Amino acid sequence: MAVRTIEWRGGELLLIDQRRLPRKEVYRVCRNYRQVAQAIRTMVVRGAPAIGVTAAMGVVLGARRVRSRKAMEPAMERVFRTLAETRPTAVNLHWALARMRQTYEEHRDGDLELLKQRLEEAALAMYEEDITANRRLGSLGAGLLKGSRRILTHCNAGALATAGYGTALGVIRAMKESGAAIEEVFVDETRPFLQGARLTAWELCKEDIPTTLITDNMMGYVMQQNRVDAVVVGADRVAANGDVANKIGTYTVAVLAREHGVPFYVACPTSTVDLTCPSGAHIPIEQRSEDEVTHIAGSRIAPHGVKTLNPAFDVTDHSLVSAIITEKAVVTAPYEKNLREVCEG
Ligand code: MRU
Repeated sequence: MAVRTIEWRGGELLLIDQRRLPRKEVYRVCRNYRQVAQAIRTMVVRGAPAIGVTAAMGVVLGARRVRSRKAMEPAMERVFRTLAETRPTAVNLHWALARMRQTYEEHRDGDLELLKQRLEEAALAMYEEDITANRRLGSLGAGLLKGSRRILTHCNAGALATAGYGTALGVIRAMKESGAAIEEVFVDETRPFLQGARLTAWELCKEDIPTTLITDNMMGYVMQQNRVDAVVVGADRVAANGDVANKIGTYTVAVLAREHGVPFYVACPTSTVDLTCPSGAHIPIEQRSEDEVTHIAGSRIAPHGVKTLNPAFDVTDHSLVSAIITEKAVVTAPYEKNLREVCEG
């Protein structure tokens, strides 16, 4: 794997610090669940599947500190609550914690050391499953996008946003592996956190995939110039009706794609689909600090006192989505019925 995002080293969790990329490749070590929660909150690690797997490992670190059965119950509740409160939009976080809770419930009455071992196994299984899912959806997506030589993507849905390989970038990687001639991948810079400029461009350039970085306000221009054959993005949560929450700006890309007759694909594992959430209107949208808007790379660019808005995600209506590429199948409309069939099947 070209990029190691998350590494479990028996009792320590290593995370590449994504805030410092591409300038520095440094790893942060988390030895307790509070450090894990802090790493998710401050976006040392980000991307829906990556924060799910990281939170699962946070539960393992939390459990390892428990010394007695008496202390276990309140300690574990604190661990689950703290990790769940880190970021609200990506459902993978809650999905991963629910799976860890299930393992916890199954083994809480048995031997404490066995419980810790089972939790570690569950987290490591999630890590492996995520990579397998990404490879599968990558290959399904590569089939779907066959013939598309010029692709546009938004934010970072790559190896950095997952346990490895990536979702939207997994599709592009699989295309390359299958010998497809990729002419150009347009990468939106993705203000304010610059996941596109800093992370996606870094991942693609590392693999010699032809990459063209554009600022967010250039998306319309490249589509109008007929330079984009398909858009592929990741997702933080897909509602039961197919509405997609993803990085702020994704909705803009989808509207432009519709206007220009460009297919708009979403690539995500089924762990990102939330069948309990009826529509995008029910997805909680994280609001982040105003500093991300008033500053770039630590330098203030706006006057003091100016009012700001910083929603980290937006919702794209399912009517704008050409297909949702999951590891189980490529899902098309009607999403309500087809997503349920694929996810429950
Ligand atoms: O705020 P971020 O960087 O965590 O947002 C990430 C995204 O919006 C990604 O597109 C999404 O999580 C999919 S990652 C495979």
